[in-house]
This record gives sequence, C-alpha cells and structure tokens, in this order.
Amino acid sequence: MDRVKTGITGLDEMLGGGFLRETANLIEGAPGTGKTTLGMQFIYNGIIQENEPGLIITFEEFPKQYYHDAAAFGWNFQELEKKGLLKVVMTSPEVSRLDVESVGGMIEGYVDQMGARRVVIDSMSHFSRLTQDPVELRSLEFNFINALKRERLTCLLTRESPVLLGEAYDDSSIGFVVDSYLILRYVEIESAIRKALLVLKMRGSDHAKDIRQYDITAQGFEVQSKFEGQEGILSGNPRRMAASFVEAFVKR
Ligand SMILES: Nc1ncnc2c1ncn2[C@@H]1O[C@H](COP(=O)(O)OP(=O)(O)O)[C@@H](O)[C@H]1O
Ligand SMILES: [Mg+2]
Repeated sequence: MDRVKTGITGLDEMLGGGFLRETANLIEGAPGTGKTTLGMQFIYNGIIQENEPGLIITFEEFPKQYYHDAAAFGWNFQELEKKGLLKVVMTSPEVSRLDVESVGGMIEGYVDQMGARRVVIDSMSHFSRLTQDPVELRSLEFNFINALKRERLTCLLTRESPVLLGEAYDDSSIGFVVDSYLILRYVEIESAIRKALLVLKMRGSDHAKDIRQYDITAQGFEVQSKFEGQEGILSGNPRRMAASFVEAFVKR
C-alpha cells in the first residue's frame, strides 16, 4: 500500500508506515497539544524528504505566524514558498467551501501549478460556524473533504477539542467522514502534565492500539514510549495499576 510518511519517527510506526495516500486524517486535541506543529511538520517533511509540495490552509492564523512558528523549529517556510514548494493560504471556511466546489478554484490552481500532494486544514472546527444543523454540518465537511481527495491530496485536518483534560471526542460528526482519527491529550501523572497520543481509527490499515507519550521539542513533534503501568490515560487522570499486577509482569 502507498504510504504517505509524516517523517515523524514514532508516528509513522504507529500508522503502519504513514497515512494512506489520498485520505483524510484528523488530528484532534486541546489548544497547545501540538496540532499545528504536527501539520507543519507533515508538510515540511513531505517537501524535504519526499519531494511532495504542500499547502497549508488556515482559518485562524496569518501566514506570518506560521513562518514565525516554523522558523522556531528551524524550518524556513518563506524559502520553500519562493521555490514554489509550499503555499500558506489564509482564508475562511465559507470561501474554501465554495472554492473547492468550483472548477478552477484556488486550491485546484495550487495543485496544478505547484503539484501539491499534501494539504493541511487548520482547523476544521471553523466549519461549525457555517450551520447550526449537525446533519448539514456533516454534509458540508464531507463535501469539502471529498473535494480535497478528488484533487488527489493527502489531507491532515486539525480539530480543536473543547476540553483540556479527559475524554471528549464526539463521534457524532467528522469522525465518521475521515479515514483516520488521531487524538492528542493532556494527561496528569504524578502532579505533572504530560501529553498522550492515540490512533483511534485507521480505515483499511492496521495501526498501533496503545497510548504513547509525545512531546514538542526544538525539533518538533516527537513520539516517545508507551505509558507503562498506567490505566485511565484517556480520562486525563490515570491511576497506577496495582503494584502486584505490575510486578507479576515485570521480572526483577
Ligand atoms: N520551538 C519550540 N520548541 C519547543 N516547544 C514548542 C516550540 N514551539 C511551540 N512549542 C510548544 O508547542 C505548543 C503549541 O503547539 P501548537 O502546534 O501551536 O498547538 P495547537 O495547534 O494544538 O494549539 C506550545 O504549547 C509550545 O509549548
Ligand atoms: Mg493550532
């Protein structure tokens, strides 16, 4: 199967080698969990490591903010834009929706001109202001995502989760529309806040089922080890497993 590598070591391994090509992949997490960083890294690594030009469509931050944030990780986005390998576009869900529905729209234009293969939408949460009706929202999201896939793009979509800690994914909407669903969570362990990652689903592929730790470092997103001896991670409030239970499995 054709895999689209994120270039993030531990993450590609969890995904069985990477995202499937021309699929829509949702990253959900609270503010500051690293969704934008993950998206920028997916695009940057695509250009540098796989020679796949990329688009970043943002509904919330100005392109300047992305250049600035990317530079902090050592990624020179302005240079990549000058070379025609990257385009950061600030727009609105209204405009984007109409754009993908029309032939010869902006996104189609970038795909043709640059040969864009990857796109990040940061974030899908803004679509919710287009309608109050959940059924209509799902259909808007579905049409938008399918239009991107028709352009043969591999899509990384971010989505703001409303709570800081705890279980909060809402499987009534966009989770059904996407091909894979990754959850980023803050977890409180021994009075410290750490970050946890889970691949909730991945259509048509095997994937890691366990919960891993990750961090945002000066190099970007880094997936680390499993959480050992902890349960209740997704509740945001893990408990140490009974010591005897752990001892039964850990040889001294
Ligand atoms: N250069 C950097 N080095 C280390 N950590 C960083 C750097 N830049 C941002 N971060 C961390 O990443 C987090 C923000 O990630 P971001 O991708 O903007 O989150 P989100 O899009 O989910 O709100 C911040 O909380 C910050 O701690
Ligand atoms: Mg963000």
